[in-house]
Amino acid sequence: MSESYVFYQGQIVKESEVNVSVRSKIFNYGLGCFEGIRAYWDEEKQQLYGFAMEEHYQRLLESAKALFMEVPYTVEELCDFTVELLKKNGHKETTYIRPVVYKGSNKLSPTLYGDDDDRIVIYTQALGSYSGKDTLRVAVSSWRRISDTMLPPRTKATAGYLNSALASMEVLQNGFDEAIFLTNSGFVCEGPGENIFLVKKGKLVTPPVSDDILEGITRKLVMDLAENELGMEVVERSVARTELYNSEELFFSGTAMEVTGITEVDRRVVGNGEEGKVTKELKKLFFGLTTGNNPKYAHMCRPVY
Ligand SMILES: Cc1ncc(COP(=O)(O)O)c(C=O)c1O
Repeated sequence: MSESYVFYQGQIVKESEVNVSVRSKIFNYGLGCFEGIRAYWDEEKQQLYGFAMEEHYQRLLESAKALFMEVPYTVEELCDFTVELLKKNGHKETTYIRPVVYKGSNKLSPTLYGDDDDRIVIYTQALGSYSGKDTLRVAVSSWRRISDTMLPPRTKATAGYLNSALASMEVLQNGFDEAIFLTNSGFVCEGPGENIFLVKKGKLVTPPVSDDILEGITRKLVMDLAENELGMEVVERSVARTELYNSEELFFSGTAMEVTGITEVDRRVVGNGEEGKVTKELKKLFFGLTTGNNPKYAHMCRPVY
């Protein structure tokens, strides 16, 4: 396999040229934040489309600001660098893009301020289906979601993903495919790397941004699609755990997970045990727009070649 290129500190370089010190704050304390972006390959058009890149880089800059991490580039510049990188790596398949902003400083204390050694790296890798499954069996984890008063989930902070890893591991070891977090107050929150939706009495329901979720970019798109394309009422409100058990449909949304139906939760069958009608329709709309084929959403797709 030929060597992969990465974007590092303003330049595209060979991946092997980037070193992270064992003494650095990112390595010792997880002081960083990141994004996850997809670029979708269209076989017919022989074209790769960076998807919702502006939204993702905007969120990265917001995360970095909240965490006192300097990114000396604009959203537009980051989008341009990413297109260049995708080209350089020659991807001709659906690809995952991972920008990471981090504290490169070797100072011993876990301070966020006054280091002058903030760095940014972007790498890419092929990524098809994230879960490898059409539908998921999930369980509520005994690990609660980190709250905004502890480690802001809104920031996509590197360190916060230990919380995600613990929840995923627990439910995987118990034979499920993915976890659902409750908030510290006991409301339904999100998955370790996904937002969650319920269909209840024909309405689309999802936890509000004040319930310690990541404000998902796919979540926002799904809400727009449900409202504008399916004419559904979309409700953001706190959700009690047992509402999961009598929902008509349940599904996850996320860049990696895309739109994926949940057919079982805490060993209770969801609906009739198959991916629901609304989930199917939203999935179809979603996959119909990721490579610029829906003029209404084509602005979200940036051609690479
Ligand atoms: C904790 C968490 N929630 C939700 C999401 C979904 O967000 P998005 O749709 O922006 O990828 C992600 C993925 O980034 C995540 O890590």
